Amino acid sequence: MNKFYITTAIDYVNGAPHIGHAYEKILADIIFKHFKQRRDEYFFLTGTDEHGIKIQKTAANMGVTPQELCDKNSALFSSAWKELGIEYSKFIRTTNPEHKRIVQKIFEQLLSSGDIYKDSYEGKYCTGCEAYLSDKDLDENGCCLIHGTKPEIIKEENYFFRLSKYKDKIAEHIKNNPKFIVPAFRAQEVLNQLENIEDISVSRSVDNVKWGIPVYSDPSQIIYVWIDALSNYITALGYTPEGIGDILFNKYWPANVQVIGKDILKFHAIYWSALLMALGVKLPKTIFAHGWITINQAKMSKTTGNVVSPSTIMQAFELENSDPLRYYLAVCTQQGRDGNYSDEEFKERVNVDLANNMGNLLNRTLNMLVKYFDGEIKKEFICANELTEIAHSSILKVKEHFDNYRVAEAASEILQVVDEANKFVNDNAPWSLAKAEKMEECGRVLYSVLDLMVYVGTLIKPFCPNIAAEIARQLNFDIDMRLDELKPKMIPAGKLISKEDIKPVFLRLDSEFADKK
Ligand code: ME8
Ligand code: MG
Repeated sequence: MNKFYITTAIDYVNGAPHIGHAYEKILADIIFKHFKQRRDEYFFLTGTDEHGIKIQKTAANMGVTPQELCDKNSALFSSAWKELGIEYSKFIRTTNPEHKRIVQKIFEQLLSSGDIYKDSYEGKYCTGCEAYLSDKDLDENGCCLIHGTKPEIIKEENYFFRLSKYKDKIAEHIKNNPKFIVPAFRAQEVLNQLENIEDISVSRSVDNVKWGIPVYSDPSQIIYVWIDALSNYITALGYTPEGIGDILFNKYWPANVQVIGKDILKFHAIYWSALLMALGVKLPKTIFAHGWITINQAKMSKTTGNVVSPSTIMQAFELENSDPLRYYLAVCTQQGRDGNYSDEEFKERVNVDLANNMGNLLNRTLNMLVKYFDGEIKKEFICANELTEIAHSSILKVKEHFDNYRVAEAASEILQVVDEANKFVNDNAPWSLAKAEKMEECGRVLYSVLDLMVYVGTLIKPFCPNIAAEIARQLNFDIDMRLDELKPKMIPAGKLISKEDIKPVFLRLDSEFADKK
């Protein structure tokens, strides 16, 4: 119970990472960092999905080998995640030999259990989805609803997976486990999709698809991307069908949460569940489907040329670190809903929340402490009051939000604590107390705000690790504290800070920066 395993979707490497990909990895990283404050063992998996016709075609158009394209683009993803402070434990690449070997074994296992069989098939294949489409996936012109492109008609002899066999079991699992699909409003959608589910093709002829993992016992067939891709969540932990030496797998599986976009929920809630059932492996506890990030309310697309990468934003605003971008993406929408990025909304939101509300609260309180008390906490200032109560009870609320993967809602709870503290300062007007020479009262007001900032700094750390570290430096507490170590009156009596050590934890983003792009 004391472990936490989180995964993200693995991204296709036919392009560079954009802020939609970044959004998912940031959400997962925030959840991961929060649970690091509560658990003893944790593992965070992300990576890249490198096989399939889409990569094969992109590489051919560019005049490079698929492997060269994968190597180059996969590195763009892993380095983008480093820049964003994404603390993954492992970065899996599906072209990794160990992954390929285990995928082949999984396929053989399913062949021998009868869950995979050979049949001939004619269908409409969308390369964007890397999947066969049914009529419901098509618009009135016969184009893919997601990609807007006409699927290819493909007739082949392929291997099929007996998905229909697991239909009822999956429906039952969804109904019996209300936390299996998050947000809950998506569960019904999956149940509807299940009604019409048929067996699926899981291989392609090597004549049509070359870039993929060959079926071990029949190399004329290439394992189709979803079996390859979905298996990454367990091959990364060293899973093998025969179960020998899978130490990480035994420790971390089932995943606590698998973070993915709403467009691939069907593949996870249905295909992945069936695959695990066929292998006799437990299902993940939760599949969390987030919404899409749009740019100025439009879907990002290479044809429109409105694809925004995280590093473009970092450069345009001359950001010292990724905290503001992490924060903005985390809070720009409610759980599971689509969010929007625009330079204006970004700047406005982080300036208000991080600079005006959170940063200024700490800054003005510390400045008063220096002005009135030379930066010293006197013994008689140490107190607990209604503000302490608010700070302390927020831990439970933040935890509860994270237990249900409500990331934006957790942030809003923390910012509410900040609002209460700002209100407390304004109501109690420590500057007036000082003027009236009510020094002890003044000191107690300042102390209760600073003590509250220990909570705020610790709770905001998963969102903004750099700002949190700066808060901790100025208040001299350990930023690596676990949540259960947080308690009132953590700041001891004595000299806390000098004038020259007070620094704004976040500088407002300048309005000119956005125009420089
Ligand atoms: O689907 N906003 O890869 P992918 C938010 N390889 N999320 C977005 C987004 C946007 N604008 N665009 C993409 C794949 N995503 C498969 C996954 S998992 C075993 C295999 C999300 O590169 C998308 O929803 O098309 C998905 O979760 C992830 O980025 C990778 O998308
Ligand atoms: Mg996609």
